[in-house]
Amino acid sequence: MVTATAPGKAILFGEHAVVYGEPAVAVAINARVSVTLEQCDGDWQIDGYPLDSGRHPHLISLKNALLGGNSQSYSVFVESELFPAAGLGSSAALSSAGCAAMLSLSGMPIDSEQIATLSHLAEADAQSGRASPIDTSTSTLGGCVLVSNKKEELAEWRYTRNLKTPEGERTWEVHSVSLPKSASEVWLVVGNTGIHAPTSEMVAGVAELLASNPSKKEDIARMGEVARLGVDALSKGNYPQVGALMNEAHRLLSSVGVSCSELDDMVEVARRTSFGAKLTGAGGGGCMLALTQNPAETAAALEMRGCRVLVTPLGASGVAIENQ
Ligand code: MEV
Repeated sequence: MVTATAPGKAILFGEHAVVYGEPAVAVAINARVSVTLEQCDGDWQIDGYPLDSGRHPHLISLKNALLGGNSQSYSVFVESELFPAAGLGSSAALSSAGCAAMLSLSGMPIDSEQIATLSHLAEADAQSGRASPIDTSTSTLGGCVLVSNKKEELAEWRYTRNLKTPEGERTWEVHSVSLPKSASEVWLVVGNTGIHAPTSEMVAGVAELLASNPSKKEDIARMGEVARLGVDALSKGNYPQVGALMNEAHRLLSSVGVSCSELDDMVEVARRTSFGAKLTGAGGGGCMLALTQNPAETAAALEMRGCRVLVTPLGASGVAIENQ
Protein backbone atom coordinates (compact mmCIF):
# COMPACT_ATOMS: atom_id res chain seq x y z
CA MET A 1 0.00 0.00 0.00
CA VAL A 2 1.22 3.50 -0.75
CA THR A 3 -0.14 7.01 -0.13
CA ALA A 4 0.99 10.09 -2.04
CA THR A 5 -0.26 13.66 -1.68
CA ALA A 6 -0.05 16.73 -3.91
CA PRO A 7 -1.18 20.33 -3.40
CA GLY A 8 -3.82 22.28 -5.28
CA LYS A 9 -2.80 25.45 -7.07
CA ALA A 10 -3.97 29.00 -7.50
CA ILE A 11 -3.13 30.83 -10.72
CA LEU A 12 -2.07 34.42 -10.05
CA PHE A 13 -1.60 35.39 -13.70
CA GLY A 14 -1.98 33.99 -17.20
CA GLU A 15 -4.75 31.35 -17.09
CA HIS A 16 -6.15 30.71 -20.58
CA ALA A 17 -3.32 32.78 -22.16
CA VAL A 18 -0.88 30.02 -21.14
CA VAL A 19 -2.74 27.57 -23.41
CA TYR A 20 -1.49 29.81 -26.30
CA GLY A 21 2.13 29.89 -25.04
CA GLU A 22 1.91 33.11 -22.99
CA PRO A 23 3.45 33.06 -19.50
CA ALA A 24 1.46 32.11 -16.40
CA VAL A 25 2.29 32.17 -12.70
CA ALA A 26 0.77 29.92 -10.05
CA VAL A 27 1.42 29.02 -6.43
CA ALA A 28 0.83 25.72 -4.68
CA ILE A 29 -1.73 26.13 -1.89
CA ASN A 30 -2.13 24.63 1.57
CA ALA A 31 -4.84 22.16 0.60
CA ARG A 32 -3.92 18.72 -0.71
CA VAL A 33 -5.28 15.68 -2.51
CA SER A 34 -4.25 12.31 -1.11
CA VAL A 35 -4.23 9.11 -3.21
CA THR A 36 -3.78 5.68 -1.61
CA LEU A 37 -3.26 2.57 -3.75
CA GLU A 38 -3.77 -0.89 -2.30
CA GLN A 39 -3.46 -4.20 -4.20
CA CYS A 40 -6.81 -5.90 -4.87
CA ASP A 41 -8.25 -8.86 -6.77
CA GLY A 42 -10.46 -8.34 -9.83
CA ASP A 43 -10.75 -4.96 -11.55
CA TRP A 44 -9.36 -1.60 -10.47
CA GLN A 45 -11.66 0.27 -8.09
CA ILE A 46 -11.92 3.83 -6.84
CA ASP A 47 -13.50 4.44 -3.45
CA GLY A 48 -15.32 1.10 -3.80
CA TYR A 49 -16.61 1.65 -7.39
CA PRO A 50 -15.14 0.40 -10.72
CA LEU A 51 -12.65 2.79 -12.31
CA ASP A 52 -14.52 4.35 -15.22
CA SER A 53 -12.93 6.06 -18.26
CA GLY A 54 -15.70 8.72 -18.37
CA ARG A 55 -15.41 9.70 -14.70
CA HIS A 56 -11.72 9.02 -13.99
CA PRO A 57 -9.87 9.80 -17.24
CA HIS A 58 -6.73 11.06 -15.47
CA LEU A 59 -6.17 7.88 -13.46
CA ILE A 60 -6.91 5.64 -16.47
CA SER A 61 -4.44 7.56 -18.63
CA LEU A 62 -1.73 7.30 -15.91
CA LYS A 63 -2.42 3.61 -15.29
CA ASN A 64 -2.11 2.83 -19.04
CA ALA A 65 1.07 4.91 -19.41
CA LEU A 66 2.81 3.54 -16.33
CA LEU A 67 1.50 0.07 -15.63
CA GLY A 68 0.08 -1.08 -18.97
CA GLY A 69 -3.37 -2.60 -19.60
CA ASN A 70 -2.95 -5.92 -17.76
CA SER A 71 -1.20 -4.82 -14.58
CA GLN A 72 -1.92 -5.91 -11.03
CA SER A 73 -5.22 -4.31 -9.97
CA TYR A 74 -5.42 -1.70 -7.24
CA SER A 75 -8.08 -0.10 -5.09
CA VAL A 76 -7.68 3.67 -5.20
CA PHE A 77 -8.79 5.80 -2.23
CA VAL A 78 -8.94 9.56 -2.75
CA GLU A 79 -9.28 12.26 -0.09
CA SER A 80 -9.29 15.95 -0.96
CA GLU A 81 -9.09 19.19 1.01
CA LEU A 82 -9.80 21.17 -2.18
CA PHE A 83 -13.10 22.50 -3.45
CA PRO A 84 -13.72 19.97 -6.27
CA ALA A 85 -13.73 21.11 -9.90
CA ALA A 86 -13.48 24.78 -8.87
CA GLY A 87 -10.28 25.98 -10.55
CA LEU A 88 -7.91 24.96 -7.74
CA GLY A 89 -6.26 22.16 -9.71
CA SER A 90 -7.97 19.20 -8.02
CA SER A 91 -7.57 17.03 -11.14
CA ALA A 92 -3.90 18.03 -11.50
CA ALA A 93 -3.27 17.22 -7.81
CA LEU A 94 -5.08 13.88 -8.25
CA SER A 95 -2.93 13.12 -11.32
CA SER A 96 0.30 14.16 -9.67
CA ALA A 97 -0.35 12.20 -6.45
CA GLY A 98 -1.75 9.22 -8.42
CA CYS A 99 1.34 9.18 -10.66
CA ALA A 100 3.74 9.32 -7.68
CA ALA A 101 1.86 6.46 -6.00
CA MET A 102 1.97 4.32 -9.18
CA LEU A 103 5.71 5.01 -9.68
CA SER A 104 6.39 4.07 -6.09
CA LEU A 105 4.47 0.78 -6.35
CA SER A 106 6.31 -0.12 -9.55
CA GLY A 107 9.65 0.48 -7.81
CA MET A 108 10.47 3.35 -10.20
CA PRO A 109 12.21 6.57 -9.05
CA ILE A 110 9.93 9.39 -7.87
CA ASP A 111 11.10 11.84 -10.51
CA SER A 112 9.37 15.27 -10.57
CA GLU A 113 9.85 15.82 -14.29
CA GLN A 114 8.34 12.43 -15.14
CA ILE A 115 5.40 13.03 -12.77
CA ALA A 116 4.81 16.48 -14.25
CA THR A 117 5.01 15.10 -17.81
CA LEU A 118 2.65 12.15 -17.31
CA SER A 119 0.18 14.25 -15.29
CA HIS A 120 0.21 16.91 -18.01
CA LEU A 121 -0.53 14.31 -20.71
CA ALA A 122 -3.35 12.89 -18.55
CA GLU A 123 -4.78 16.42 -18.12
CA ALA A 124 -4.52 17.05 -21.89
CA ASP A 125 -6.33 13.76 -22.62
CA ALA A 126 -9.17 14.86 -20.34
CA GLN A 127 -9.32 18.40 -21.85
CA SER A 128 -9.72 17.53 -25.55
CA GLY A 129 -5.98 17.95 -26.14
CA ARG A 130 -5.83 21.54 -24.84
CA ALA A 131 -3.99 21.79 -21.52
CA SER A 132 -1.00 23.80 -20.45
CA PRO A 133 1.39 22.32 -17.87
CA ILE A 134 0.70 25.09 -15.30
CA ASP A 135 -1.61 23.08 -13.01
CA THR A 136 0.28 19.80 -13.09
CA SER A 137 3.73 21.45 -12.77
CA THR A 138 2.64 23.56 -9.78
CA SER A 139 1.11 20.56 -8.08
CA THR A 140 4.24 18.49 -8.71
CA LEU A 141 6.97 21.05 -7.97
CA GLY A 142 5.16 23.06 -5.27
CA GLY A 143 6.17 26.66 -4.39
CA CYS A 144 5.66 29.23 -7.13
CA VAL A 145 5.83 28.18 -10.78
CA LEU A 146 6.23 30.22 -13.95
CA VAL A 147 5.38 28.61 -17.28
CA SER A 148 6.35 30.45 -20.45
CA ASN A 149 7.05 29.98 -24.16
CA LYS A 150 10.69 30.90 -23.51
CA LYS A 151 13.31 30.50 -20.81
CA GLU A 152 12.82 33.42 -18.41
CA GLU A 153 15.63 35.15 -16.52
CA LEU A 154 13.52 35.91 -13.46
CA ALA A 155 13.16 32.29 -12.45
CA GLU A 156 15.02 28.97 -12.26
CA TRP A 157 14.39 26.85 -15.39
CA ARG A 158 13.32 23.25 -14.56
CA TYR A 159 12.22 21.48 -17.79
CA THR A 160 10.51 21.80 -21.19
CA ARG A 161 7.02 20.43 -21.97
CA ASN A 162 5.67 19.83 -25.50
CA LEU A 163 2.13 18.99 -26.55
CA LYS A 164 0.26 18.60 -29.84
CA THR A 165 -2.96 20.62 -29.42
CA PRO A 166 -5.82 21.09 -31.93
CA GLU A 167 -4.32 24.56 -32.60
CA GLY A 168 -0.82 23.14 -33.31
CA GLU A 169 2.29 22.01 -31.45
CA ARG A 170 3.02 23.97 -28.23
CA THR A 171 6.19 24.17 -26.16
CA TRP A 172 6.35 25.48 -22.60
CA GLU A 173 9.40 26.17 -20.42
CA VAL A 174 8.65 25.44 -16.77
CA HIS A 175 10.43 27.40 -14.02
CA SER A 176 10.42 27.70 -10.24
CA VAL A 177 10.19 31.25 -8.83
CA SER A 178 11.86 32.14 -5.50
CA LEU A 179 9.48 34.14 -3.38
CA PRO A 180 10.93 36.87 -1.13
CA LYS A 181 10.84 36.49 2.70
CA SER A 182 8.05 39.08 2.86
CA ALA A 183 5.74 36.62 1.04
CA SER A 184 5.12 35.00 4.45
CA GLU A 185 3.31 38.25 5.47
CA VAL A 186 0.65 38.09 2.73
CA TRP A 187 -2.09 35.54 2.09
CA LEU A 188 -4.41 34.44 -0.65
CA VAL A 189 -8.08 34.37 0.22
CA VAL A 190 -9.87 32.06 -2.22
CA GLY A 191 -13.65 32.34 -2.56
CA ASN A 192 -15.76 29.67 -4.24
CA THR A 193 -18.80 30.71 -6.31
CA GLY A 194 -20.15 27.15 -6.02
CA ILE A 195 -20.81 27.27 -9.79
CA HIS A 196 -19.35 24.38 -11.76
CA ALA A 197 -17.99 25.19 -15.23
CA PRO A 198 -15.87 22.42 -16.81
CA THR A 199 -12.35 23.55 -17.73
CA SER A 200 -12.51 21.81 -21.12
CA GLU A 201 -15.63 23.83 -22.06
CA MET A 202 -14.16 27.14 -20.87
CA VAL A 203 -10.91 26.50 -22.79
CA ALA A 204 -12.88 25.48 -25.91
CA GLY A 205 -15.03 28.64 -25.54
CA VAL A 206 -11.94 30.87 -25.62
CA ALA A 207 -10.62 28.97 -28.67
CA GLU A 208 -13.94 29.62 -30.47
CA LEU A 209 -13.92 33.31 -29.50
CA LEU A 210 -10.36 33.79 -30.80
CA ALA A 211 -11.28 32.04 -34.07
CA SER A 212 -14.39 34.18 -34.61
CA ASN A 213 -12.96 37.44 -33.24
CA PRO A 214 -9.17 37.55 -33.83
CA SER A 215 -8.88 41.03 -32.21
CA LYS A 216 -9.30 39.23 -28.86
CA LYS A 217 -5.79 37.84 -29.40
CA GLU A 218 -4.59 41.25 -28.17
CA ASP A 219 -6.15 40.52 -24.78
CA ILE A 220 -4.35 37.17 -24.66
CA ALA A 221 -1.03 38.89 -25.49
CA ARG A 222 -1.63 41.54 -22.80
CA MET A 223 -2.37 38.77 -20.26
CA GLY A 224 1.12 37.47 -21.03
CA GLU A 225 2.67 40.91 -20.46
CA VAL A 226 0.74 41.27 -17.19
CA ALA A 227 2.05 37.86 -16.07
CA ARG A 228 5.68 38.90 -16.76
CA LEU A 229 5.19 42.19 -14.89
CA GLY A 230 3.41 40.24 -12.13
CA VAL A 231 6.23 37.77 -11.53
CA ASP A 232 8.71 40.66 -11.44
CA ALA A 233 6.61 42.53 -8.84
CA LEU A 234 6.09 39.32 -6.85
CA SER A 235 9.77 38.45 -6.69
CA LYS A 236 10.51 42.03 -5.51
CA GLY A 237 7.78 41.81 -2.84
CA ASN A 238 5.89 44.73 -4.40
CA TYR A 239 2.41 43.54 -3.37
CA PRO A 240 0.46 46.71 -4.27
CA GLN A 241 1.81 46.31 -7.81
CA VAL A 242 0.97 42.58 -7.82
CA GLY A 243 -2.58 43.48 -6.72
CA ALA A 244 -3.00 46.15 -9.41
CA LEU A 245 -1.87 43.65 -12.06
CA MET A 246 -4.30 41.04 -10.70
CA ASN A 247 -7.10 43.59 -11.17
CA GLU A 248 -6.02 44.13 -14.76
CA ALA A 249 -5.82 40.35 -15.32
CA HIS A 250 -9.43 40.03 -14.16
CA ARG A 251 -10.56 42.70 -16.64
CA LEU A 252 -8.78 40.88 -19.49
CA LEU A 253 -10.26 37.51 -18.49
CA SER A 254 -13.74 39.12 -18.50
CA SER A 255 -13.01 40.46 -21.96
CA VAL A 256 -12.44 36.92 -23.29
CA GLY A 257 -15.71 35.80 -21.72
CA VAL A 258 -14.58 33.65 -18.79
CA SER A 259 -15.91 35.71 -15.87
CA CYS A 260 -19.51 35.77 -14.62
CA SER A 261 -21.56 38.14 -12.45
CA GLU A 262 -20.90 36.10 -9.27
CA LEU A 263 -17.12 36.24 -9.82
CA ASP A 264 -17.26 39.98 -10.64
CA ASP A 265 -19.25 40.63 -7.47
CA MET A 266 -16.90 38.64 -5.20
CA VAL A 267 -13.81 40.25 -6.76
CA GLU A 268 -15.33 43.69 -6.13
CA VAL A 269 -16.07 42.88 -2.46
CA ALA A 270 -12.61 41.40 -1.83
CA ARG A 271 -10.79 44.38 -3.36
CA ARG A 272 -11.96 46.63 -0.47
CA THR A 273 -9.61 44.85 1.99
CA SER A 274 -6.89 43.52 -0.31
CA PHE A 275 -4.16 44.54 -2.75
CA GLY A 276 -6.18 43.13 -5.66
CA ALA A 277 -8.45 40.30 -6.73
CA LYS A 278 -9.31 38.26 -9.81
CA LEU A 279 -10.90 35.03 -10.90
CA THR A 280 -8.51 32.08 -10.83
CA GLY A 281 -8.40 29.01 -13.07
CA ALA A 282 -10.77 28.36 -15.92
CA GLY A 283 -13.53 30.74 -14.71
CA GLY A 284 -17.20 30.68 -15.73
CA GLY A 285 -17.76 30.00 -12.00
CA GLY A 286 -15.22 28.21 -9.82
CA CYS A 287 -13.05 30.44 -7.63
CA MET A 288 -11.68 33.95 -7.30
CA LEU A 289 -8.71 34.97 -5.19
CA ALA A 290 -7.50 38.09 -3.40
CA LEU A 291 -3.96 38.94 -2.27
CA THR A 292 -4.20 40.46 1.18
CA GLN A 293 -2.49 41.39 4.44
CA ASN A 294 -5.88 41.17 6.17
CA PRO A 295 -6.97 37.57 5.51
CA ALA A 296 -9.56 37.47 8.32
CA GLU A 297 -11.28 40.65 7.09
CA THR A 298 -11.24 39.64 3.41
CA ALA A 299 -12.48 36.13 4.24
CA ALA A 300 -15.29 37.52 6.45
CA ALA A 301 -16.44 39.90 3.69
CA LEU A 302 -16.68 36.99 1.23
CA GLU A 303 -18.37 34.71 3.76
CA MET A 304 -21.00 37.44 4.30
CA ARG A 305 -21.88 36.92 0.60
CA GLY A 306 -22.49 33.26 1.40
CA CYS A 307 -19.44 31.80 -0.31
CA ARG A 308 -17.06 29.18 0.99
CA VAL A 309 -13.56 30.50 1.60
CA LEU A 310 -10.07 29.06 1.92
CA VAL A 311 -7.10 31.07 3.26
CA THR A 312 -3.61 30.00 2.23
CA PRO A 313 -0.06 31.31 2.29
CA LEU A 314 1.70 31.62 -1.09
CA GLY A 315 3.42 28.32 -1.88
CA ALA A 316 3.22 24.82 -0.39
CA SER A 317 5.40 21.76 -0.84
CA GLY A 318 4.93 19.68 -4.00
CA VAL A 319 4.04 16.03 -4.54
CA ALA A 320 5.25 13.64 -1.81
CA ILE A 321 5.06 9.98 -0.86
CA GLU A 322 3.58 9.95 2.64
CA ASN A 323 3.93 6.26 3.57
CA GLN A 324 4.77 2.97 1.95
C1 MEV B 1 -6.95 25.92 -15.63
O1 MEV B 1 -6.58 25.83 -14.26
C2 MEV B 1 -5.99 26.79 -16.37
C3 MEV B 1 -6.32 27.02 -17.84
O2 MEV B 1 -5.34 27.95 -18.31
C4 MEV B 1 -6.26 25.75 -18.64
C5 MEV B 1 -4.84 25.22 -18.82
O3 MEV B 1 -3.87 25.93 -18.56
O4 MEV B 1 -4.75 24.04 -19.25
C6 MEV B 1 -7.69 27.64 -18.03
